[in-house]
Amino acid sequence: MDFLPGALDLDPAAFALDPGFAGRVVWFDALVGNVDRSWRNANMLFWHGTPYLIDHGATLTFHHAWSSAEGWVRRPYAAAEHVLLGSAPDVDTADTELAPRLTPDLLRAAVDAVPERWLVDELGFDGPDEVRAAYVTQLLARRDARDAWLPGVRAAIAERGAGSGEPPPTRGPNPPYWLTRRRGGS
Ligand SMILES: Nc1ncnc2c1ncn2[C@@H]1O[C@H](COP(=O)(O)OP(=O)(O)OP(=O)(O)O)[C@@H](O)[C@H]1O
Ligand SMILES: [Mg+2]
Repeated sequence: MDFLPGALDLDPAAFALDPGFAGRVVWFDALVGNVDRSWRNANMLFWHGTPYLIDHGATLTFHHAWSSAEGWVRRPYAAAEHVLLGSAPDVDTADTELAPRLTPDLLRAAVDAVPERWLVDELGFDGPDEVRAAYVTQLLARRDARDAWLPGVRAAIAERGAGSGEPPPTRGPNPPYWLTRRRGGS
């Protein structure tokens, strides 16, 4: 973790974002079920020319109720309000590139990096190793259930692309100065 001094909140109306990047973010958010990357709150920073994803607190919600975690695996992703929907996200290229990288070894390495004290006393598990294994199983199942969530994501992108999707409301009466300047305002 690090503090990024001088980072700006990333508003896609102010920074041109590449469809490849947008596609990877939308795909990833759909995989982990991130409900907190909307136009209301992008939870992305822009720092020294590079976007950073922050605040993944509203993801992996199954871990608040492991007994019903199975139902999460095929849950559709509500992409309609995703902040990058207007950036022409190339979600199919993202799928081709990212799904094969989500291997058991990669997930295992990720859960192994979680401090043990965060995983003790988890209800229904016999110790941290069992919890780690459950995360790996759960995320591999979500990866393999893309037929359940990817079509809905594609549909939301297509709807926005066709101009029939709900356009995001403006952010308020006082946009940041760099936004008004880029759009030719005073
Ligand atoms: N690593 C960081 N470096 C610099 N600024 C950061 C960093 N993390 C967060 N911030 C700033 O703090 C804000 C809120 O961070 P974060 O989203 O993690 O908290 P939050 O409690 O979810 O707040 P919010 O409800 O606004 O999302 C960010 O939008 C950003 O402006
Ligand atoms: Mg936040």
